[in-house]
Amino acid sequence: SAAEITVPVAVHIIHAEDGTGDVSAETVNEQIAVLNKAFRGGYSGADTRFDFRLEDVTRTADDAWAADFSANESEIKSSLRQGGAETLNLYIAQLGDGILGQATFPQDYSAAPESDGVVVDRNTIPGGGLEGFDLGFTAVHESGHWLGLFHTFQNACTEPGDYVADTPYEAEQSSGCPEGRDTCPARSGDDPVHNFMDYSDDPCLNNFTEGQATRMSEHWTAFRSPEPE
Ligand code: ARG
Ligand code: ZN
Ligand code: CA
Repeated sequence: SAAEITVPVAVHIIHAEDGTGDVSAETVNEQIAVLNKAFRGGYSGADTRFDFRLEDVTRTADDAWAADFSANESEIKSSLRQGGAETLNLYIAQLGDGILGQATFPQDYSAAPESDGVVVDRNTIPGGGLEGFDLGFTAVHESGHWLGLFHTFQNACTEPGDYVADTPYEAEQSSGCPEGRDTCPARSGDDPVHNFMDYSDDPCLNNFTEGQATRMSEHWTAFRSPEPE
């Protein structure tokens, strides 16, 4: 069977100068454990063999950065980012406006290495308090993008969909947990509403597929692997 792929992780916590928004080491470890459980098929689905290793945690107390991550994004990332294409820089901050997270794609690394990484709203991490979205699966979803996955509803019912053969086509994003929904009746399979790359609530999400695992490992080899293979 295929070897594990080790992903070094640097977590960056942006919080207010009075400590509001700081995240404990325990919670950071829980988020990394959720990431590993999800990518190893521990909730359901495929074992993608990605192994996330926490290498460093930075904490920055800055009221301006804490109040508006987006407005300060390039400055924040260029001052905190560590490692190269293989290192997952995971920023935990307050995003606001209903934004749960964002990520860059592997193929964009070489053009914009300084913006590479994943950002999640602090309320989405385990115990973060955002109702329906605080199991830490936003970091899982965003890390899927960071490793080359599109949403399962990419291209709706038309080819090539999400470029993954074993995720059924889906006309539009899910919300809540619409079990048994089928928005592309001319295509086989119900909507993949339990897939980490759909938009269901966290308690509904539980899997990546083998096809997604293959796509991520191909993107790793092409764009992120630190060693020639
Ligand atoms: N909307 C965000 C994105 O497209 C994240 C969605 C995460 N969903 C969740 N159930 N945690 O990247
Ligand atoms: Zn997404
Ligand atoms: Ca598909």
